[in-house]
Amino acid sequence: MPKPVRKAVFPVAGMGTRFLPATKANPKEMLTVVDKPLIQYAAEEAVAAGCDQLIFVTSSSKRAIEDHFDKSYELEALLLQKQKTKLLEIVQSVLPKGVNCVYIRQAEALGLGHAVLCAKDVVGDEPFAVILADDLIDDNNTGCLSQMSNLYNERGCSVLGVENVDPQDTAKYGIVSSKPISDRVSKLEAIVEKPEPADAPSNLGVVGRYILSPRIFNMLENTPSGAGNEIQLTDAIATLLDYEHVLAYEFDGKRYDCGDKLGYLKATVEYGLKHEGLGEDFKEYLRSYCTPEALE
Ligand code: UTP
Repeated sequence: MPKPVRKAVFPVAGMGTRFLPATKANPKEMLTVVDKPLIQYAAEEAVAAGCDQLIFVTSSSKRAIEDHFDKSYELEALLLQKQKTKLLEIVQSVLPKGVNCVYIRQAEALGLGHAVLCAKDVVGDEPFAVILADDLIDDNNTGCLSQMSNLYNERGCSVLGVENVDPQDTAKYGIVSSKPISDRVSKLEAIVEKPEPADAPSNLGVVGRYILSPRIFNMLENTPSGAGNEIQLTDAIATLLDYEHVLAYEFDGKRYDCGDKLGYLKATVEYGLKHEGLGEDFKEYLRSYCTPEALE
């Protein structure tokens, strides 16, 4: 059996420029979809997959994330005093018992690869997950990371979450070429960061879910700046291929790109419609609002 995946790295030090001005003082990962911040959906997915250490790679404007996962004595005391038991449970379950958080500063936003490298000493010699919280994945109850973790346990090698992206959009993703080996699973042959459609080897794009072997850190240490003058995780994975097998996994679920305003709006509407306490009322509202005139 390979070592289990217990640690999840959340790179949250990006500038979130596509969401300005909302992200001027607030981290993109604290944007809420209905009633939970994106980072909490991501943390829940990691915990459901068996991770008990959450490692956040942050920057100076991301203090709200640390506060979100911290215990709020004042709030809990108030809710207890007012006997708001349900709300107290919600607040206390933000960080489940037995799960701990580590915060690391990325002093300069030198790219996703650099952010992951910042976690090297905390991760150590173990396989680990990387989750980009702005890729929100609705997975019909089997978390995307759990699916990937199962595959990792079977095969013992790095796994990248992938999906078929619009062929016109390849320049927004790391794109892989791979050889199918079973349902949803293929073996990586090459990976390239943000190719133009004409140069893309396929339209299988890497989304914000990775399970990586610790050898990736050696690769990252020797990866020069690539696309966008940033140290790219994709480039390090391309080098990793010289030493280890890497699998691409077409996860079962629907991804929303919440780093993009339209993707975020779609997630808000669809999660709102499915929300336990709110869904029916919201559906009713949309029925009355979405007249042909309103949608003209
Ligand atoms: P993005 O490419 O989405 O960049 O980063 P961004 O800064 O977050 O957003 P835009 O494009 O300016 O709107 C992908 C992921 O990598 C993290 C981001 O926080 C995001 O989760 N990241 C990126 C870092 O942690 N550090 C970096 O130096 C760059």
